[in-house]
Amino acid sequence: MTVASAPGKIILFGEHAVVHGRPAIAVPVTQVHADVEVVESSRPGIWIHAPNVDLDVELNALPSDHPLAAVIHNLLFSLGISPFPPLDITINSTIPVASGLGSGAAVSVALVRALSSALGHPLTDEQVNAFAYEIERLHHGTPSGIDNTVITYAKPVYFIKGHPIETLKVSRPFTLVIGDTGIPAPTKQSVGDVRRLWTKNNLRMEQVFDEVAQISLMARRIIESGQPEMLGDLMNQNHAFLQEMTVSSPELDALVRAARKAGALGAKMSGGGRGGNMIALVTPETAEPVSMSLLASGARRAIITQVE
Ligand code: MEV
Repeated sequence: MTVASAPGKIILFGEHAVVHGRPAIAVPVTQVHADVEVVESSRPGIWIHAPNVDLDVELNALPSDHPLAAVIHNLLFSLGISPFPPLDITINSTIPVASGLGSGAAVSVALVRALSSALGHPLTDEQVNAFAYEIERLHHGTPSGIDNTVITYAKPVYFIKGHPIETLKVSRPFTLVIGDTGIPAPTKQSVGDVRRLWTKNNLRMEQVFDEVAQISLMARRIIESGQPEMLGDLMNQNHAFLQEMTVSSPELDALVRAARKAGALGAKMSGGGRGGNMIALVTPETAEPVSMSLLASGARRAIITQVE
């Protein structure tokens, strides 16, 4: 039996601007994860069991553009494996789907790792990451690659599209509360809308992306120099720029306001936006009240996570 696991993720700073070549910071969220188990099957075919999404099916019964079928076909093809061996693949994930926590990328990473190892071709992190990026591209159009990267390396990353991976040293751990609006957030749509806005109002959007780039750069210095309480202000500023990019929503804004009112040092939406998650920077004392306030203000779920 071969098993592999991959964490969820959140974007701390720089979402959307990162698609346009600016830096962004993302961190793994280990409280939620995707787990894949591969065993040799007693019956012919590749059987996929994914109880979270009510799936119990043979590979060939899935449409070829189904995300799981795409991962398995692409991997077996690139490893030159033919005919396909009989396998039972079980996928379990505690990462909420379409919420900006990277559920799709985490399943891809765990599946590629477990399957390649089970077939005797274990891949390096770099290969897993490249593979997961291709899958992201199939589903999201023009992803920056930050989601698959932070999930593959399971470490905080300072990410610039097309640049070598830079992991971040967190000198002093800090605490975030993640609040989920419960509204599904198709990243492809918001990324496309920001691109249209950028085409229409190029000068202003370039300025906005540059401002966000400065925020990511300052945040990196703050994280590395161990003064995380200073991140709150930067989160508030980043949220305002995301509002200008039109990717926030009344629900996200309401949760951001509620978190600040309950004592968070700063708060912003996180990820593709329009729904999905927001994050709030808290102290050990304010973590619980902020979390309660988010739930009272309509959050479907609140996760307290430590960045270290
Ligand atoms: C999604 O987690 C982050 C975005 O910047 C899209 C991307 O980077 O591909 C919105």
